[in-house]
Amino acid sequence: MRDFIKTSIGFLRNVSTTGAIVESSSQTQEELTTFVNKNTPQVIVEFGAGTGVVTRRILEKMHHLSVLHSFEINDNFAEKIGQIQDRRLHFHHRSADDVDEVISAPSSVDLIISTVPITILPAELVRSLTVKGKALLKNGGHFSQLVFSPIYKRHFKQYFGNCRIVSCLNMPPAFIHHATKND
Ligand SMILES: C[S@@+](CC[C@H](N)C(=O)[O-])C[C@H]1O[C@@H](n2cnc3c(N)ncnc32)[C@H](O)[C@@H]1O
Repeated sequence: MRDFIKTSIGFLRNVSTTGAIVESSSQTQEELTTFVNKNTPQVIVEFGAGTGVVTRRILEKMHHLSVLHSFEINDNFAEKIGQIQDRRLHFHHRSADDVDEVISAPSSVDLIISTVPITILPAELVRSLTVKGKALLKNGGHFSQLVFSPIYKRHFKQYFGNCRIVSCLNMPPAFIHHATKND
């Protein structure tokens, strides 16, 4: 209980960059990790690791030869992520917008799992993350984005041929946008 309160205070103190008041629910974590595959090595990128609830779920579900690059800007959350001991995790305490400096090879990523709060981030940053993410994804790769609103389908449809939305029990209610690269 004390941990929950401490984490919520951390989210609330930084609400302009977290965009949330608590960590993602287990249903949201499950939906965000839909395309993580235990049977195939994958390159996975996470935008906005927070306290690591989704990071840990990805690590649980991924193949032993898969690689996970997680990005987070918040200093306190970064300290928590730093406690995760897993050689498959490459943690980057920097903006997700630097993803193209960390991974330079286009079409080399299988999945992008993003919980950065795109409804409150500057429009240019959201566009940049989407464009860079798409360029890094392999054909057939997936960009799964948590949004606290169902209206972002049009945004993803501009860049990805295929986009579907799944709603999840979460605080606040969450809509996972799964966009698939097919060009
Ligand atoms: C809604 S919280 C989600 C945290 C966690 N993944 C979860 O599901 O509980 C969004 C996270 O994105 C981080 N964030 C915001 N802008 C970012 C950026 N440009 N690059 C990396 N992380 C960012 C925030 O600090 C926050 O931890």
